[in-house]
Amino acid sequence: MVMFNVTRKETAPIDGQKPGTSGLRKKVKVFTRPNYLHNFVQSTFNALSAEKVRGATLVVSGDGRYYSKDAIQIITKMAAANGVRRVWIGQNGLLSTPAVSAVIRERVGSDGSKATGAFILTASHNPGGPSEDFGIKYNMDNGGPAPEGITDKIYENTKTIKEYSIAEDLPDVDISAVGVTSFGGPEGQFDVEVFDSASDYVKLMKSIFDFELIRKLLSSPKFTFCYDALHGVAGAYAKRIFVEELGAQESSLLNCTPKEDFGGGHPDPNLTYAKELVARMGLSKSNTQDEPPEFGAAADGDADRNMILGKRFFVTPSDSVAIIAANAVESIPYFSAGLKGVARSMPTSAALDVVAKNLNLKFFEVPTGWKFFGNLMDAGLCSICGEESFGTGSDHIREKDGIWAVLAWLSILAHKNKENLDGGKLVTVEDIVRKHWATYGRHYYTRYDYENVDAGAAKELMANLVKMQSSLPEVNDIVKGIRSDVSKVVNADEFEYKDPVDGSISKHQGIRYLFEDGSRLVFRLSGTGSEGATIRLYIEQYEKDPSKIGRDSQEALAPLVEVALKLSKMEQFTGRSAPTVIT
Ligand code: G6P
Ligand code: ZN
Repeated sequence: MVMFNVTRKETAPIDGQKPGTSGLRKKVKVFTRPNYLHNFVQSTFNALSAEKVRGATLVVSGDGRYYSKDAIQIITKMAAANGVRRVWIGQNGLLSTPAVSAVIRERVGSDGSKATGAFILTASHNPGGPSEDFGIKYNMDNGGPAPEGITDKIYENTKTIKEYSIAEDLPDVDISAVGVTSFGGPEGQFDVEVFDSASDYVKLMKSIFDFELIRKLLSSPKFTFCYDALHGVAGAYAKRIFVEELGAQESSLLNCTPKEDFGGGHPDPNLTYAKELVARMGLSKSNTQDEPPEFGAAADGDADRNMILGKRFFVTPSDSVAIIAANAVESIPYFSAGLKGVARSMPTSAALDVVAKNLNLKFFEVPTGWKFFGNLMDAGLCSICGEESFGTGSDHIREKDGIWAVLAWLSILAHKNKENLDGGKLVTVEDIVRKHWATYGRHYYTRYDYENVDAGAAKELMANLVKMQSSLPEVNDIVKGIRSDVSKVVNADEFEYKDPVDGSISKHQGIRYLFEDGSRLVFRLSGTGSEGATIRLYIEQYEKDPSKIGRDSQEALAPLVEVALKLSKMEQFTGRSAPTVIT
């Protein structure tokens, strides 16, 4: 057995290591500065406390973006030096964020051990490569992101750190080969186990969904399918699940080879960045001449986000979670006993609320960020949840799950088409969505993003919106002056959440203007950007009248959009005449 020593290295605090909504995300050139990663990792170990770290089993992997391989070796050496007992690494350092959550919750190591936490190496949907983003976040033993209590402690530690421990002489581990390597340190044995990135996750998916039923759909010549991993880690799962397990054609996989720089693309599954898929589905101006597939989906870099498309048809994430919730019990075996409850983030449209009301389900509106759902799930209050930001998931893990969402949709389609695959007419994605609108009404919805805006200007814009909330009559005078066909603001506030499980209060979670007819304008600053500020504007309008649910969404929302832009003085504050991205 190779032996290693522990070295204590002197260091000094580095500014700006405050973890955001989903960990610490910075440019690679920041992460590679001397001691940058080391300080953060040691601060995390210190926040968890030495007793919890000693003897721990830690998962270390991620979406495979540039710098991951080096980071895995550094973290492994630091784990060894801090008395961690085992490090588990997905082959080639690849594990999707949902797979990490599944591994923490489900995997049993070759020696019977269970994981106690994970470092996930990802900057999610941000681009990767030497001049792009890297990221790291810590997940706890329930499989979910560290709660604020821990991330605050980590941040405090980064401000006072004086030294870190590292096993400098521990040889680099070959992460391309599955197997266990054992080392000996001052505190005893230290193992590094490299394992197949997909098998635990595939096993979990098979226990949730009826793979036989989905296989009938996917292997039917009547049903065509396309999945775009945008060169993210979802590719490591897509072939195994969609092709090998479920019988889809290999040609239905787009960009499914994980790449360190995501092929130079922006791995965010939306109508702007998933260009190739959007064109293939017949949704872009440069439509291909081929008949688009019946179903298309995409994932982000770490495969926790999803976009669902039908032929020439976009399903908004807010509709997607509502439709999954409405159909889950009959289509997905995992939910056959009923749903414990459902939840959405505040800026997500109220489509899910209507389903919850109709089906008499517990319902929760939480701030943006998956950790709030995790608390509800741990308390047995929530089965299905989703966010407008292309995140959908359930209590099978404590992260959102891009491939799960696709399997949920395929289950609904397979269930509705049970009788149609041999003879009848296929029920399409569009049919399902239109029927849902006819039953529950439609929430027209759009989001405008202003990326990399001057941080000071963004703050001023938000402060102005808060200030205006103190006088609704004045707000309504302004609104009337902009568009007389928009209803009146009846309430305006900053969203505040009291967690029903731990009683914690989260303030300033987004600025809301609520209208008499149920329309909403929401303004938020993104918590995930790595440069400047990103302003998000969410616009929503509810339509119950079945004769009015078929309009083009941008056209239906045009009056509210105009009000939002003028009321917030968007162009005046930011200098931007148009958003960077519209979804
Ligand atoms: C991450 C979180 C999501 C959250 C999203 C918001 O993806 O995991 O739960 O919805 O960030 O991002 P934003 O940039 O709007 O703060
Ligand atoms: Zn992600």
